Amino acid sequence: MSFAGRRVLIIGPGLVDLTAQAMAGAVIDTAIAETFHGRWMHGDAPELVLIDSAGASAEAIGAAIVTLGRAPAPPPTLLVGAQLPTALVRALMRLPRSDVLEAPFSAQDLAEAAAPLMSPHVTPTHNAPSRCWTVMGAVGGSGATTLAIETACALAERLPGPRRVCLIDLNIADGAAAAYLGAPANMLLSRASQAPERIDAQLLDAFVSQAPGGVDLLASARDCHAFDTTSSEAVLRILEVACQVYDAVVVDAPRHRRSWTLDVLSGSDELLVVSELTVPALLAARSLAAEIEAELPDGPPPRIVLNRLAKRVFGPAPSMVEAEKALGRRAVGGITSDWEAAAASANLGGPIAQHRPKSRIVKDVGDLVDRLLASPAVRGQDARVA
Ligand SMILES: Nc1ncnc2c1ncn2[C@@H]1O[C@H](COP(=O)(O)OP(=O)(O)OP(=O)(O)O)[C@@H](O)[C@H]1O
Ligand SMILES: [Mg+2]
Repeated sequence: MSFAGRRVLIIGPGLVDLTAQAMAGAVIDTAIAETFHGRWMHGDAPELVLIDSAGASAEAIGAAIVTLGRAPAPPPTLLVGAQLPTALVRALMRLPRSDVLEAPFSAQDLAEAAAPLMSPHVTPTHNAPSRCWTVMGAVGGSGATTLAIETACALAERLPGPRRVCLIDLNIADGAAAAYLGAPANMLLSRASQAPERIDAQLLDAFVSQAPGGVDLLASARDCHAFDTTSSEAVLRILEVACQVYDAVVVDAPRHRRSWTLDVLSGSDELLVVSELTVPALLAARSLAAEIEAELPDGPPPRIVLNRLAKRVFGPAPSMVEAEKALGRRAVGGITSDWEAAAASANLGGPIAQHRPKSRIVKDVGDLVDRLLASPAVRGQDARVA
């Protein structure tokens, strides 16, 4: 295979010349095991990490391997050296793609060991089935983004693995999730649309930013043309890869129908429609839920979450019982209104669970997530009540 243009990161001082010889044209970077922190040098994740076990202490190399394992999509890793300590090899084997090469070896041996690790379309194996929960507002401003963020954080708290939850903001023109979380918006979906088949775990890794609350975020910078320049294939592929890599994926979906909307909804395990307790919002939620049920009879049943429940001191708001009557179905959960907590967290940048952990919003979302985990949606089930 050709190594031209492929990004290789060498951890350890010794192997640069041999690698340049073995992988002609590869773009080589180096790092030192003791200071290796896993942030890729030029923004792009390496396509191969080569670790020279002779270059540092076993402890430092072990720590570098653990750091690599924490990346959302660890790059393929080749450990080389003589008499490799068992502990290092065991740590290496926990990475999704790795191999060892015993010294002494030639440039040809190195190329032959690297090539299969770097071959395309190898995605990390994943044991547990991943969940995909989609959140959609019935009307603008109902709190869909807020609840998607808090749901993602509540899930991250409940799932044990290292790659837990990815929050994907599919409001690709003007999504607010990155701003609410104070995290960078690095997803370049319209550029990836030119070759959607090349969206893989490594590209996902480059698009992801780490957000507070133990959540990885996929969000796009503001771009008023994004819906026109992003293909359906790219949106669906990024979701598919995220579901392969993460234990759970939470999607903040736009309210307005796109060419990919029904595919995203039908691929979800849970579909949460967020409404508030006003008559127009309840009517919109009822129509939206009915519309989805008619179009996706075998899809996940839309489940309604009533947001910003307040005491009835601010005029004639419907009660929960009246709301369910207007909806023609039971709500799966209700979230208390807490403007101070919601506004303070958005202003500070981060989930409410972090800045106002005692807020009722956090408790209510936690209860909702526990309920959904305990009784997952059954596809094709009719949630309407007579
Ligand atoms: N339970 C709540 N209590 C108080 N304020 C809330 C609550 N949920 C959301 N908010 C606030 O309501 C406003 C709208 O929330 P958010 O942006 O999440 O709605 P949205 O449905 O995503 O809106 P859009 O239609 O613009 O995408 C924000 O100021 C948010 O802080
Ligand atoms: Mg929103």
